[in-house]
Amino acid sequence: MKFFIDTANLAEIREAYDLGVLDGVTTNPSLMAKEGISGDEAVRAHYKAICDIVDDKVSAEVIATDYEGMIKEGMELAKIDDKIVVKIPMIKDGVKAIKYFHNQGIRTNCTLVFSAGQALLAAKAGATYVSPFIGRLDDISFDGLELIEQIVHIYQAYGFATEVLAASVRHTMHLIKCAELGADVVTCPLKVITGLLKHPLTDAGLAQFLADHAKAAKQ
Ligand code: E4P
Repeated sequence: MKFFIDTANLAEIREAYDLGVLDGVTTNPSLMAKEGISGDEAVRAHYKAICDIVDDKVSAEVIATDYEGMIKEGMELAKIDDKIVVKIPMIKDGVKAIKYFHNQGIRTNCTLVFSAGQALLAAKAGATYVSPFIGRLDDISFDGLELIEQIVHIYQAYGFATEVLAASVRHTMHLIKCAELGADVVTCPLKVITGLLKHPLTDAGLAQFLADHAKAAKQ
């Protein structure tokens, strides 16, 4: 299972990368705005800075919502670095754009996916990744994890190459359940990844080992 970090914050990306378990990064226009990044040049420079930290797979989202605009913007984003994955929203022109990029050998991440039907369309168009937003579904009393299970089942049944990238992951149990269900990737904030470290018995056990070691050293 791959771990992507869902942020545009360079310090957090570096911290996750230094942990040695990071496989990629996802961003979106809201996360870029949170870092105060705006304007074409600044946006491109920021994506380049992210690519310089990690080994591969940096999702950069188009702002255009029409086919021609998405193609133009996606091609420009792809030129920034070979590590860029063009992120395209699940709308009619988005599906057409995913097909275009697939034919060009450019990787895509189909974002804002909330149903199995949408995931099926993304896979048929040749998306590299499909991003079902599980936290946002949970927020409105739909079962986000059930959607992951459904998509994994459908993709396996038909041998689709599209990877299931569980997005809008809010906590460690989301991540663990996605792993159980066979999601290929999760993207989440740094605190969810570091949250996996925590167990009170680890802390208590380590404290006891160190205390016993210190006691023995004094004897
Ligand atoms: C995924 O690519 C999105 O950027 C992200 O996971 C959305 O998460 P949120 O619902 O916590 O904003």
